[in-house]
Amino acid sequence: MAKIMLDVKELSTKYITRFREDVYAVDRVSFQVEEGKSLGIAGESGCGKSTLALSLMGYYFAPLHYISGSIIIDGKTITGMAPDDVRKSVLGTEIAYIPQAAMNALNPTQKIIRFIEDVIQAHDSNMSRKDIYDLARERFEILNLPADVLNKHAVELSGGMKQRTVIAISTILSPKVLIADEPSSALDVTSQKMVIKMIFDLMRGGFIKSMIFITHELPLLYNVTDDIAVMYAGQFVEKGGAEQTVFDPIHPYSRGLMRSIIVPEAGTREQKLEAIPGTPPNLKKPPSGCRFAERCKYAYAQCYVSDVAFTNVGDGRGYRCVHQMDRLKEVYGRD
Ligand SMILES: Nc1ncnc2c1ncn2[C@@H]1O[C@H](COP(=O)(O)OP(=O)(O)OP(=O)(O)O)[C@@H](O)[C@H]1O
Ligand SMILES: [Mg+2]
Repeated sequence: MAKIMLDVKELSTKYITRFREDVYAVDRVSFQVEEGKSLGIAGESGCGKSTLALSLMGYYFAPLHYISGSIIIDGKTITGMAPDDVRKSVLGTEIAYIPQAAMNALNPTQKIIRFIEDVIQAHDSNMSRKDIYDLARERFEILNLPADVLNKHAVELSGGMKQRTVIAISTILSPKVLIADEPSSALDVTSQKMVIKMIFDLMRGGFIKSMIFITHELPLLYNVTDDIAVMYAGQFVEKGGAEQTVFDPIHPYSRGLMRSIIVPEAGTREQKLEAIPGTPPNLKKPPSGCRFAERCKYAYAQCYVSDVAFTNVGDGRGYRCVHQMDRLKEVYGRD
């Protein structure tokens, strides 16, 4: 059996705003990522993708707060660890996060090599500058990045090069899990491809052992990740193999999402695109029943009142809906 790199059980986190209001942005999320595998996370804006990414680091500071659940990375439980220990022995080595729009956050007046020194020295303060430079140059070469970038400033780099550099900096300590949050969405198509190729080169080269890829662009996920999870209002509503989740979704929301985008497969281009009517619930007061019930054309009275458990149906597939999978498929067939 493949080794499990990331094991997340019933993870819940929230924001507490300046006005002391709770925002329940991640609710009972469970999943595993095996060694060498990638999980894509899709869902509309505000559903909690970035909050989940942040929460997975196990490093909580206001306004983000841990509520419950566990995160285990390669056998090591990181939930419950002191923040200082997380910073020293988890961030960068166990798990690394490339935040949304990370490339724009690089201080433009600092040389790239200085960022790498910062990352390495936060973990191993004894490494000499020469050794850091040699390590960085070697890694850049493997990743087909010109080594002279190390002596440049962020302002001197193109968007695509900046993003690839950010990825190289973030993964310099060879983390077991890499979370890339919309790593290619601000780039042109050619740069997007290079960024995605680079992430997979990191995986093939053994510099990262597993990956989570967050994006709005579902067709992109289908082409690059092994599994896909669909997130709605802070919860995973479905997860499974990429192809099955895109072409044979179980949950009514996943189905709606797939029908609202163009999936570049022969025969599906002419399909009429349907928007899902309504808007997601307010995460300050999530509904007590199914969070999607208000927008779901298959909802009945029970959906509005009783909490819905996530049902695993085998092969890593699962969904969060009161309806039986077979029943849903039957109804979809008649739609
Ligand atoms: N610092 C914060 N304080 C309070 N609420 C927040 C904060 N950041 C995000 N939220 C709320 O948490 C919820 C989840 O936001 P999040 O940024 O995780 O969504 P997302 O899926 O990453 O969206 P996008 O696709 O636009 O990046 C939203 O309701 C958002 O308004
Ligand atoms: Mg986000």
